[in-house]
Amino acid sequence: SFEIDLARSAMTLTVPAGKSILDVLRENGINMSSSCEQGACGTCRCGVIEGDVIHQDVYLSDGEKAEGRSIMTCVSRAASNRLILDI
Ligand code: FES
Repeated sequence: SFEIDLARSAMTLTVPAGKSILDVLRENGINMSSSCEQGACGTCRCGVIEGDVIHQDVYLSDGEKAEGRSIMTCVSRAASNRLILDI
């Protein structure tokens, strides 16, 4: 599991194994748009302020993945203990 800090919502949430960031956001009343939920469409994109991402989507370019400023919340996860998201 890892933690997500929501910078604009002043919340810290835990994302357990087996749940997506998108799942956890919705369970906590954060309304995120999504469509494919397979990492392909880009709808669930969220800004990353701090932390390392394991990108599991096929939407972002290699350059964007290396930059690490965005995450697809339906499939991708943290490589670090904590991500600070621009939500
Ligand atoms: Fe399509 Fe996440 S909902 S990439």
